[in-house]
Amino acid sequence: MTPTERIPEPLVLVIFGASGDLTKRKLLPALYSLAREGLLPARFAVVGFARKAMTSQAFRDAMREGCDKFARRRPVDNPLWDAFSANLHYHQGDYADPASFTALKERLEGLDRELHTAGNRLFYLSTPPSTYEPIIANLGKAGLAKRNLQPLPHIIIEKPFGHDLDSARHLNGQLKKVFRESQIFRIDHYLGKETVQNMLVLRFGNGIFEPLWNNRHVDHVQITAMEAIGVEGRGGYYEEAGILRDMVQNHLFQLLSLTGMEPPSSMESNAVRDEKVKFLRSLRPIPQEDVSRFVVRGQYAPGTLGGEKVPGYRQEDGVAADSVTDTYTALKLYADNWRWAGVPFLLRTAKRGAKRITEISVHFKPAPLRMFGGHDGLAEPNQLVIQVQPDEGISLHFSAKEPGPTTELLPVDMTFRYGASFGKESPEAYERLILDAMLGDSTLFTRDDEVEASWAFITNILTAWKKQKARQIAQYTAGSWGPQEADALLEPGMTWRKP
Ligand code: BG6
Repeated sequence: MTPTERIPEPLVLVIFGASGDLTKRKLLPALYSLAREGLLPARFAVVGFARKAMTSQAFRDAMREGCDKFARRRPVDNPLWDAFSANLHYHQGDYADPASFTALKERLEGLDRELHTAGNRLFYLSTPPSTYEPIIANLGKAGLAKRNLQPLPHIIIEKPFGHDLDSARHLNGQLKKVFRESQIFRIDHYLGKETVQNMLVLRFGNGIFEPLWNNRHVDHVQITAMEAIGVEGRGGYYEEAGILRDMVQNHLFQLLSLTGMEPPSSMESNAVRDEKVKFLRSLRPIPQEDVSRFVVRGQYAPGTLGGEKVPGYRQEDGVAADSVTDTYTALKLYADNWRWAGVPFLLRTAKRGAKRITEISVHFKPAPLRMFGGHDGLAEPNQLVIQVQPDEGISLHFSAKEPGPTTELLPVDMTFRYGASFGKESPEAYERLILDAMLGDSTLFTRDDEVEASWAFITNILTAWKKQKARQIAQYTAGSWGPQEADALLEPGMTWRKP
């Protein structure tokens, strides 16, 4: 598809939660970038919906502030902003009040008449999860979300999509009362990241990797998502969620399924998602009594980061002094299928880790025969490292002969970096995802069965944790690579990467 073929039909985007942080930090800056790239429909409007009383002009001013701070390309271009912001509107309403939605419908019909948007609508739920149900039901009641409307309205739903398997199923049920699955876009912003999408290209657009991508050649896989930041004022939310829900169920499982899935029959959205679901379903369930052998949970204690002292999790605002909420999780998983039988997948994620790094590393088996030198550790097994962020790129680690009279093996890297190779910055994840939703392309969104398959696996772990009587959790120093207890997941010869 050429970029111009990716311009959506005229449309109105309704953002619920318009006065919230995400709208200002991510959504409006992403829309502004799309306007700048010429990728927005010719006739387009945004209606921001929230409880707060505000005029459309005050909404525009707040969004301008957001773009000034967070837009990918700054400073904001004034003439472009004027044209773009003329189409930003604000609608005050109550998420639980059907009358607010009748009024919204009238407003949207007015915009359709003015802009000839022909009833083409995309709804974006960027509100606290407790409001999802009333909003969905009220969209239905107001006739804004029928399954037989033409054109079909679409809905984007922010994370978290449920907090366990039952709540995710329930939410799917509520959505299905008014929307068809093809209208529903469950967002996971990791899928909007260029490097994550590139996993499909790396694996299925090249001939050399796929023949090695299996248990004959791969020793194990590590998937790491570390952040240097702590809970950043979200102590209250974290106490409810924990990192297993916040990062593993969604983002890490996306990285995992793109690494482990079989080649799809085509790049069509359901073909790709079928394979991801199949992979998730092949994950070996962890028996309740074995959860602590396969999953390590940790929590950051006070430490030093970038030369500054930082508090421990229990000292953060909104956190109980004896909290056992996880801010670190490491898991050892197996996929019981022909490709991966016996290959461990080691996942770990942390708040207040040593640095910000997200990567997937595929660790290959060593050469079958040691031909060079007798020193242990000289010929390091090969690793293919996909660095998701920062400094996006891919490197292959292998051994080379050090120049000189003896045959000494040294590890070297073959490296590709996005920045150096393409000379342009990658778009923000939200730009790609909002554009795809406007185009009705759901490939990079999570399907109902996919979200339920990942929750099924995670809920089993949460249940085991809940049953544990002792309120204990491994502590790690803020700014470190996590608790020592995670080493127990490693098998002989394995070490956690510390890139
Ligand atoms: C969000 C989590 O989904 O992802 C945050 O709620 C986390 O806790 C963030 O910080 C990480 O996203 P990124 O794109 O910075 O890796």
